[in-house]
This record gives sequence, C-alpha cells and structure tokens, in this order.
Amino acid sequence: MTVAENPESLPLPAMPPRPARPLSTWQLLRVGFSNTLAACDEEMFEELFVERHYAWGRMFVINDPDGIKRVLQDNVDNYPRIDPIRRVFAFGSGSGMLCAEGEVWRRHRRILNSTLDRRAVVADVPGLVALAEELARRLDELPGGEALNIGEMFTHFQTRATGQVFAGDDRAIDPMVLRMGHYPGEYGLFDFLTMPRWLRFIDRFRKSRREAKALHPLLARMLAERREPGYRGPQDLLWRLANARDRQTGESLSIAELEDEVLTLGSTSVTSLQAYSWIWYLLALHPWAEARVEAELDAVLGDGLPQADDLGRLVYLRKVVDEAMRLYPPLPVMLRAAASDDLVCGRRIPRKSVVAVIPWVVHRHRKLWDDPDRFDPERFTPEAVAARSRYAYLPFSVGPHVCIGATLAMSEILITFAVLARRFRFRLVPDQRIEPIAWTSLRPGRGIHMRVEKRSRSGAARENSADAAAAAG
Ligand code: HEM
Repeated sequence: MTVAENPESLPLPAMPPRPARPLSTWQLLRVGFSNTLAACDEEMFEELFVERHYAWGRMFVINDPDGIKRVLQDNVDNYPRIDPIRRVFAFGSGSGMLCAEGEVWRRHRRILNSTLDRRAVVADVPGLVALAEELARRLDELPGGEALNIGEMFTHFQTRATGQVFAGDDRAIDPMVLRMGHYPGEYGLFDFLTMPRWLRFIDRFRKSRREAKALHPLLARMLAERREPGYRGPQDLLWRLANARDRQTGESLSIAELEDEVLTLGSTSVTSLQAYSWIWYLLALHPWAEARVEAELDAVLGDGLPQADDLGRLVYLRKVVDEAMRLYPPLPVMLRAAASDDLVCGRRIPRKSVVAVIPWVVHRHRKLWDDPDRFDPERFTPEAVAARSRYAYLPFSVGPHVCIGATLAMSEILITFAVLARRFRFRLVPDQRIEPIAWTSLRPGRGIHMRVEKRSRSGAARENSADAAAAAG
C-alpha cells in the first residue's frame, strides 16, 4: 500500500498544543499573549456551545452551525464586531466596512460589492499572472539549493500584487500599499479586551492611525482623477470604486467615504499572503497531493499561461487550497459583542457578552469533521460539500459580512500556484519547528524554510504524476 492510499501513515500537519482544561483569566492572558490558538482548550473542539467566564465578562464560543448562522447571518445586526477592533479600523469618518455597522455599512456594501465580484476581478487576472511570472523568473535565477523563508518571499509579491490590483502600473499608490500592508502592526489578545473608559488613553494604535490619516490627500487625488469624465487610464480597483453605483438607486459613495474604504481594503488585502506558506508546506508534506496538482496543471494549461477561464478548471488545486484554509484559516478568530439579549441554540446570550466564532476551532471540531487534524482535499468534492452544513467551513466567514475580497484572494492564490507549481517544487528544510501562531492572522511563528527545486515537465515529474494525471482528469 502506498502512502497516498494510506494517509493514516502520514504525520499530522503542525498544530500548537491544546490545554487539556479551560484556562483561567490569568492563564488566558499569558498564553493568549503569544498565541491565541494555544488558548483554545480541548473542550472547545468537542462541544458545540462553550461558555467561559473571565475577569472582564462572559464569552460564548459558538461551534454549532445553527448557532453560527444565527450570529453571522440571521441576527447579524445584534452582533457587531467588538469595539476595540472597530476603533482600530476607524479611518476618517469611520464609515469603512470593518468599522461601520447597520445602515451605513449596508449602503457601502451594496455600492461596493460589484467592484470585487467575479466579473470585476477578471480584469485583474493578466496583471497578476505577469507578476507571478516575474516571481518565477526571479526564482529561476536563484542558485540551486538555497533555503528561503517562504512567507518572506511572498511578502514582496503580495505587496506588488496589491498595488497592481488597486492602481495598475500607477506606482503613486505604493505608499498606501506599503503602509496599510502592515496596519496596524502586531496586536494581540490584550488589545481585544474592552477597556474601561478611564484607560482609553492607552491607545497603542494612535501612531498607526495617524500614518493612515496622512494618506487621505493622496487617495483623494487618485480617486478624483478616476472620476473625471475624461479619464482614460486602466479600469483598476480605484477606478471601479470611484465609479461604483448602487444598482437600484444609482447612488455612489463620496470621495471621503471611498478614502475610508481604500484604507480598509488596503489593510485587509494582505490576508491572502498568510495562505501561501501553508499551502506549500502541506504540498511538501503530502507528495501524492503535489503530484496531482502538477498533473492537473500540465493537463489544463499545457505550456500556456493561466487565463481567467482556466481558474475554474483547476479543480484539484482548488480542493487543496480549500483544505489548506480549513487547517490554517488565515483569519482564525472572529469576535462579536451581543448588543441585546438573544437565544442561540436554545441558550441565552446576555447583552454585552463576547461571542466568538473561531474558524480554527470550527474547522477542527470533532463533531463536524472526520479525523479533523488530517490533510485530505477530498473533503471538498461537490458531494462532500453538499453533505455538510455550509456554516461548518468559514475561511471567508458567512452571511452579509462575508469577505468582500474572497474572489480576488482566491484568484491571486490559484494564479500564483498555477504559475509556480508548473516550474518549481518547494522542499522543507529538515529539522525545523513549524509553529502555527495567531494574534489575528494565522502564520508560521518562525516562518517555514524551504528549498526551491526546478521541476521538469518531462521525465521524473511526469513519471511521478502519471497516475495522478488520470485522477485529476
Ligand atoms: C485568503 C485571503 C482572505 C481571507 C481568508 C479573508 C477572510 C475574511 C474573513 C474571515 C472576514 C470576516 C471577518 C469578520 O467578520 O470578523 C473578512 C472580511 C473582510 N475582508 Fe477578507 N479575507 C481575505 C482576503 C481579503 C482581501 C484580498 C480583501 C480586499 C481586497 C479583503 C477584504 C475584506 C473586508 C473589507 C472585510 C470586511 C467585510 C465586511 O464586514 O463587510 N479580504 N475576510
């Protein structure tokens, strides 16, 4: 029996240790300071509804798909993001999608949804393919056998890709992309605590917000330019934002409102970066999946570069990406505050409690997934997906606040893999400790160090993947 046929024989992908018992407030602060994931105790992965009492109040961890539907969809207005997060992302007048709630937020989403939907993102594909090709050329020039921190390698690429999507070749956008790519800097559990008013002077993010504020004049100019009737430049994301209209009323956002949204989108775009290291890591750990990805790429793309239409045909690669985001959801924790009393799965949630939907836990929950800590892309066949609640898989969240950048992020990831996996393999440097950690986004604590190998499409690579080619269709 081969390893592919017997996945039981493979090592489990890296995960932090789980506390056997719930943590006290003090333990939570200590552990959560360095790694939010390591604060998730065993019971959370067993029970569908978990209640915890901490010094600052009650917290409910909701894993039950019906409960998640209640919180993120059916009664969404009762569960705004917790105040500290909304404050951090309160740019300008605070009308951006991560800060605003209720009617202001609804109006912005209605007007902006079409700027990042499937049809709009098709226009971004050629620019992203060209950037991925440029990265491939640079990897080609590397001396053989050199070990790279794979996350660092993709940071530069992601920055370029974000700039390209926002403003095409107009590099005037770079200060925004560079600043917001790190916004607001590292923040942790402590920053999530609801501070008493008299402690609010400890505003760790004042400097970050000041720097974001300094970008307003640049954005105002670039947006106004794209609103000019005589504008002849590319129809990049800034253009799409500047010209977006409510489909029913024809209403658009003011330039000041759009500035808030550009900063919001600039600070969230970087989330895609977190996925790259984990996908390469999982492929290196599971050569049978890597062989199927390669075979599919050879079959679908031949010697050509990926076009927008090809992305939907990379069925196995998509399953691998979905499974990687199940095991390592780039945004692993969502925290909400109950605005008024509610009933979730028959249990009372008092006003002001913190309600946590934690993709890291939901995706590895023993009542929702078989053998949840194991890598298995077949969880994402259409049949398997149809048999499962859609509220059990939330890398992009669900409901009205679902990630507006999901299509763009998925296109960026598929394009990058389609271009690079045809030419290279990444091999793990032995004896390194891979440590998933998260404050807000999930990343490998010390990075993942890999060596780049060139892959020839004839010869060894083809022989290895001959069986997989048949399976990938
Ligand atoms: C793999 C990449 C990404 C993942 C996994 C991801 C995940 C998520 C998740 C889980 C949420 C919900 C957060 C919450 O409600 O607390 C969210 C919201 C959001 N994301 Fe993403 N995201 C990704 C990429 C992007 C990109 C590329 C953009 C921008 C172009 C973006 C923009 C946003 C915005 C603006 C929101 C707030 C939406 C709202 O509240 O209406 N994301 N994302």
